[in-house]
Amino acid sequence: MEKIIVEGGHRLEGTVAVSGAKNAALPILVSALLNEGPNVYHNVPDLRDIRTIKKLLSDLGAQVETEGDVVRINASTLNSYEARYDLVKTMRASVLVLGPLLARLGRARVSLPGGCAIGARPIDLHLKGLERMGADISLDHGYIDARAPALKGADIYFDIVTVTGTENLMMAAVFADGVTTLRNAAREPEVVALAGALNQMGAQITGAGTPLMTITGVDELKPTSLTIMADRIETGTFIIAAGVTRGDIKILGCEPSYLPALVNKVRQAGISVEQEPDGLRVVCDEITSSVDVKTLPYPGFPTDMQAQFMVLMCLAPGLSVVSETIFENRFIHVSELQRMGANIKISGNAAVVQGGKPLTGAPVMATDLRASASLILAGLAAQGTTEVSRVYHIDRGYEAIEKKLAQLGARIWRTQE
Ligand code: EPZ
Repeated sequence: MEKIIVEGGHRLEGTVAVSGAKNAALPILVSALLNEGPNVYHNVPDLRDIRTIKKLLSDLGAQVETEGDVVRINASTLNSYEARYDLVKTMRASVLVLGPLLARLGRARVSLPGGCAIGARPIDLHLKGLERMGADISLDHGYIDARAPALKGADIYFDIVTVTGTENLMMAAVFADGVTTLRNAAREPEVVALAGALNQMGAQITGAGTPLMTITGVDELKPTSLTIMADRIETGTFIIAAGVTRGDIKILGCEPSYLPALVNKVRQAGISVEQEPDGLRVVCDEITSSVDVKTLPYPGFPTDMQAQFMVLMCLAPGLSVVSETIFENRFIHVSELQRMGANIKISGNAAVVQGGKPLTGAPVMATDLRASASLILAGLAAQGTTEVSRVYHIDRGYEAIEKKLAQLGARIWRTQE
């Protein structure tokens, strides 16, 4: 296995470009199942999770070709409706094939994703919505066995805002007979990007980005070509990197309006974030304030930025409270940060961070995607050297993060464990 070594204390300066958004690319690549192809996607990030979803689509019989950041998918040769356990267990977003397979073939057999480090992450709301649309769902030896000779439009209410639940049902509804209404729908920019891709194919979806979406069934969808939006979580991660190193960087290709809550909070903490003609300028001379955050569905503070923001608060002068309302176990990074000298106390879904003391480098272990990013950020700021092991977690969602940070002046490299 590989590890990443970080020598702390180096100020980040210069320009970095973010890659395409993992959480937009995953559902959009899956949406290629809904037409006879070929679909052409540009700015697709080269990540483990993207490789996993391409493997899954190939297993279903689709033709998938990659050339740099361009991916071509032609699902006219679809010949299976089964998503195997060994693929789904490595990436739970594989459940996104459920809706499209039912819509296209009337049949799907998808392994029930297990829990993961950050929580149980059930998909009951996905399944309840599909049943409302007339699907017959049963559990068979760890697999969801779904049958739906003809899905029909339904009025669906999500008890909890669910990103992939909204995406799965949006895709299931495109050929359904009648109108499907999704109430309390997720509003994330990645959900809006998927709706845009489907409408570009000929779907009739309204209300994307609002809590009330409607999908009017159509007979077929046409292939499309599009560019994947920039990754807002990678953008947020670099904003925090500039903050913890008191740096001055420019981030290219990003869309700051997709991070309203994060930009608001880092500005309160003393980081300047300004849109310039060629990108986002992020400057921090001093972290001036501790700031409380509470993760919420978009447009609230993103849970995928909680661990990274906590590192910034470890370096802020006072006390801050970081509350996690989305996942039940997303503080795994805390014990690793404590090994680096962080003063953090957990009480229920809140972490109380007493900042002001420098962090010290240490050997630490990554446990989930965003926690591992936070350990690298802590390493950038710490006195001494930090070794982050199990970096395969970080490769799921960040393309060559150590190369991008090194280009900004960080002393960071990857070695074998
Ligand atoms: C998506 O996961 C993202 N993944 C996650 O990013 C992100 O953290 C999460 O949304 C929240 O923003 C992708 O888009 C591929 P949810 P998802 O369904 O859709 C509960 C990353 O780091 N819930 O919005 O799986 C669930 O347990 C990843 O890139 C149910 O109870 O998250 C959670 O508490 C991590 N029943 C809450 O809702 C359901 O049927 C939100 O989950 C579905 C969800």
